[in-house]
Amino acid sequence: MKALILAGGSGTRLYPVTVVINKHFLPIYNKPMIYYPLSLVMLLGIREVLFVVNPEDLEGFRKLFGSGENLGMSISYTVQHSPRGLADGLRLAEEFAGSDSLCMMLGDNIFFGHELVNIMKEARRDIEQNGGAYVFGYYVNDPKRFGIVEFDEEGRVVSLEEKPEEPKSNYAVTGMYFYDNHAIEIAKSIEPSWRGELEITSVNEEYLRQGSLKVKLLGRGFAWFDTGTHRSFLEASSFIETIENKTGLMIGCIEEIAYRNGWIDRASLLKAAERLDKTDYGTYLKKVAEGEIF
Ligand code: TTP
Repeated sequence: MKALILAGGSGTRLYPVTVVINKHFLPIYNKPMIYYPLSLVMLLGIREVLFVVNPEDLEGFRKLFGSGENLGMSISYTVQHSPRGLADGLRLAEEFAGSDSLCMMLGDNIFFGHELVNIMKEARRDIEQNGGAYVFGYYVNDPKRFGIVEFDEEGRVVSLEEKPEEPKSNYAVTGMYFYDNHAIEIAKSIEPSWRGELEITSVNEEYLRQGSLKVKLLGRGFAWFDTGTHRSFLEASSFIETIENKTGLMIGCIEEIAYRNGWIDRASLLKAAERLDKTDYGTYLKKVAEGEIF
């Protein structure tokens, strides 16, 4: 499985902050927003990543991650010339995906919780072995803002709706999706919605029609942030700050994950620490390299 991270879009809900700065570069507490989705993909053991980016931000992303070599990964970029919707990302990933399955993640989403990685690894394995699509539902109190999933009494998915006026449930479809290779053909076949976007809900609806859409609900023990509004942006920053300061462990530290995955050696980790010498981040990396943090 390869991963696709969507980091384009227009970020209008964060205006005026994002008039000149792409939101994915903004700090969620002590690191750029985009580190969090990348770190989750890395925790799932996925080493090949394609970022979908706006033309004016390509240089910035290249500066941040380069070819991925410093993380022992292969990172590439594709330009989305206008924000045509989430499903457009799948179209842009056709060549990258080849015949492989895909994990698609939104660049402004942050997940946190015990066993999260194992739950998602299980979904990854399921898609790799049996095909289909996997999405994750999360109970929210403002369902009109999200894609919403409705269930019957047996827990089977009945419908999906994008930002409904009258939501049929409180379960939002979060920004992490697993797809078999068929998703690209589906994305190529759908039409833009009334708001002019190629909706990911349309892709998921097609899987639902074919009986191969699977959903896992993330219960109360999980935190999920779509950091695209001023409030959720601040909430996510406070959350990360609270957990990191209580535990002394970093969330979304990509160099640490690369090291623990065995993708980079100790010398490379120390080199990354040196680059960030004057920061708590650099000190943390040094401690990881010295074996002081388990
Ligand atoms: P959204 O938050 O739905 O859209 P947006 O980022 O354009 O923001 P706003 O609604 O405030 O104008 O996008 C979710 C994620 O997907 C986000 O990380 C940006 C990314 N994205 C793309 O890469 N391409 C797109 O065409 C769209 C719509 C979003």
